[in-house]
Order: sequence, then structure tokens, then C-alpha cells
Amino acid sequence: MEWQIENKYRRLEDVSQEEMDALVSKVNSCSWRQTYHIQPISGLLNDPNGFSFYNGEYHLFYQWHPLGPFHGLKYWFHTKSKDLVHWENVGIGLRPDSYFDSHGAYSGSSIKHNGQLYLFYTGNSRDEHLVRHPYQCIAIMNEYGEIKKLEHPVIDKVPEGYTEHYRDPKVWKEGERFYAVIGAQRTDETGCSVLYSSPDLLNWNFEGEIKTGLREFGYMWECPDYIEIGEQGLFIFSPQGIEPEGEDRYRNIYQSGYVLGEKLNLDNKELMHGEFVELDRGFDFYAPQTMKDAKGRRLLVGWMGLPDIDYPSDQSGWSHCLTVPRELSIVHNKLVQRPVPELQLLRKTESQAADTVVDETKAFEGFSGTVYELICDFENVDASEFGIEFRAGEMEKTVIKYDTIQRKVILDRSRSGEKVAEDYGTERKCEMDSENIQFHLFVDSSSVEIFVNDGEEVFTSRIFPDISSREIRFFAKGGHAGFKAVKWDY
Ligand code: FRU
Repeated sequence: MEWQIENKYRRLEDVSQEEMDALVSKVNSCSWRQTYHIQPISGLLNDPNGFSFYNGEYHLFYQWHPLGPFHGLKYWFHTKSKDLVHWENVGIGLRPDSYFDSHGAYSGSSIKHNGQLYLFYTGNSRDEHLVRHPYQCIAIMNEYGEIKKLEHPVIDKVPEGYTEHYRDPKVWKEGERFYAVIGAQRTDETGCSVLYSSPDLLNWNFEGEIKTGLREFGYMWECPDYIEIGEQGLFIFSPQGIEPEGEDRYRNIYQSGYVLGEKLNLDNKELMHGEFVELDRGFDFYAPQTMKDAKGRRLLVGWMGLPDIDYPSDQSGWSHCLTVPRELSIVHNKLVQRPVPELQLLRKTESQAADTVVDETKAFEGFSGTVYELICDFENVDASEFGIEFRAGEMEKTVIKYDTIQRKVILDRSRSGEKVAEDYGTERKCEMDSENIQFHLFVDSSSVEIFVNDGEEVFTSRIFPDISSREIRFFAKGGHAGFKAVKWDY
């Protein structure tokens, strides 16, 4: 126990260069390293943090445990980009080196104020009995990228009625005042979110709990995020402790979703909203964070992974990556997520195919690979099922398809290669009532993000196929399906 704890909270600063080099070289020899997704140089990445546009650049930090693929002592790692596509590793943004964050610089957000970028995060500390004490802390980044922590937390207590699971501040400005939502657990062990306000980001007032229609919905809400799109309020959070419902809903170990409705009433803290909807229909998505960029777009990045699940790349000393950025909008009262157009910068060689498949599975010239973007429109269909097999070989394939009888989109990872979280099932499904289906795939060495019908739904998943599994095949069962496909190698 003693040894485990010590090992878990081992500091990067105490590790020799040789040890670190050995770890990085083990990581680099892994065939599942991604090519255009943000991933850690070693160890574990989890939540995106402090996503913002500051001083002409996008800044995106993430939770990082450098020393191995497990949830040890967390740092904030800093990346930046001019175009949301090519990211530069800046280095460590926040170190857990003070009394208040002794056991991790946990998740948080950032906001520009007085020409500087304020990072608002949770200091996770544990006392000598390993009892957790969360502090909400501020660090300030200046225009030269230098980051300095404030000496004392700006919120140093958990109010009566809540447990020590109290973290992940997401900040925004409304008029002259700053607001923040924090993820919390009530003492009756149900999850919720609370609201704070501040005139200056330094003095915070506890406003109270956000009143939603979800009084008993899991035991903890992590990473809350509140934004407004047009006249509507969108509240995103990652609840833990939700049981699966039917075949399609809440199949992952933990969920991540949103409620859409009226704007949050900042006076009485009431949020009038519709039902909870999962943000992503795939196997690996959690703890997303949004930001508004200089063009006024609302962008979202998620963690392409889940807590408490082992992944095959663990054996190579690393795990997880972030999703590509998505732009959010609301269409017909529903949240739509589209990949940012900047991703087109990655497009190289183009291949096209158009055909009708009739009770068959067919391959086409130019359609193969491990890292690419693919858009496929299906139309004129009378098949009972049609879709695409990709990262396919003799034994392996990942399948995205539409079942016209169930009227569902189905992602099948049962033969995707190395197994991941099989106890949680190998298929993910979601209803989609549409005659025409478009699949828009972003494939990287060990992941796929599939946007369906121009962002109506997204399926995000890690997959761990052999590098030789490169084929792309189009198929129809029980009839025919016409399609047009275009693919770009990245
Ligand atoms: C979500 C989370 C957050 C916490 C962070 C720690 O994945 O558990 O609630 O701040 O990760 O790394």
C-alpha cells in the first residue's frame, strides 16, 4: 500500500533523464501512435483543460501523468496552435508543486482578462490520512507564455452539503461579472453542479446549486460546462453512475452529455431544459470542454478515452489522445457537431469512387490506408443494411453501417483488433431516421471519429488493429445501395 501510493504520486522532477528517455523510446516504438491527434509524449493524457484563444493562438492544455499509463500525479501539459490542426507541444503548463495541489493539478478552464490568460483549476490535495481536499486555484499566463500560480486558492472550502468531490471549474463572463460552474457530489452521494460568481476572478461568491430536472442522476458530475448558443442554454457534463438503458443508451462505463434549454437564470440558478443526450455515440469519449474563438465559433474538444478502463497501448507506456476539434451549432433544437473546416489542411492525395453495391462487399482502387479522411454518401438504397468496413484485413475489420429495418446507425468494434473494454459490449447504436446516410470518417493509427449526416451524431472510438489491416470496403446486404465516396490521405 505504502509503496503503491508512493509510486502513484511519484514526481516527474524526481525521475532521471535516462528513465524518462527509456519510457519515451518505448512509447515511440508503439505502432498505435497517432499522427494528427494530440497525444502525450509518455504516460497518460485525460481531460482537455484551459481551451482558449489568446494572443493570436489556440491554447489547449490537458491532464497529464507523465510516468506511466495510469492516473498518478497530474500535471497540465500545454499545447498551442495557430490553426487547430498543427499543434506544438509547449511543455508543462502547471506542476503539482504546492501545498494546495500536492496530489494533482486537476481539471479546469481559462479566460482572458486584462491582457492575460487566467487558468482556473482544481488543486487536488490529500492529507496524511489520504483524505482529499479540493481547492480551486488560479494561475496566470502572460503574453510571453509564462505561467505563475497565485499563492492561495481563490476558493478554499467545500460548502456544507457537498463532499470532497468538488472540482473542474469552467469559467465564463456575462456582462461585467465572471461565473463558474463546478462539478460536485452532494453528501447524499448524488451528482450536481454549483455556481459561483466573481467581479475579478479572484474573489468568488458561492451562488448555490444549479437547479436542473436531474435531481438523482448518478453519484458525481465531472467537468461541467455551461454555454449559450443563440437564445439557448447548453449545459454539458460527465455524470458517473448512470445505468445502461435499453440497447443504445449509456453503454460506456461513464457518460458525457448535455441538456439543452433556456438560458440559465443566474438569479435563481434555475435551468429549464430537455432530456439528457449523450454527446457522442462511440466507445471512447469523456470530459469535453468548449471555448468560443475569435471568429465567434463554439468549439469542443473531448478526451478520447474513459477512466477506469485498460487500453492496449498501456503496454507501450502511454494511453489516450484528444478528439479533433468540433464546431457546435443548434439545428432544429438539436445539438450538431461538425469537424472544424481547418482539418482540410491535412488533405493530400484524393481518391474517388461511385458505384452501387448489391448484396456484396467491394473494394476500390485507392481506397486503403491507416490515416485518412473519408466521406461517403449513400443513396438509392433498398438493402436492409449497408456501410463501410475499414482498417480491414484478413481477420480484422471495424464496421460502420446503417440498419434500415431498425433505422439505426451501428458501430461494430468486435473485430477491430486488440480488445478494449469488451465487458461493456462491442457495438454502439443510435437511432437515425433518414433516407440518405452520410458517413464522414477521420481515421488515425488507432482511432476513428465518424460524423453522421453532417454532424447529427458522432461516433468516437479508439481501435487497435494490426498495421497490415488497411483495406476499405463498401457493402450492402439484402438489396442494393448506391454510394459516392471521396477519400484524402493525410
Ligand atoms: C475527469 C477527472 C476530473 C478531474 C481529472 C483528474 O476525467 O476525473 O474530474 O479533475 O479527471 O485528472
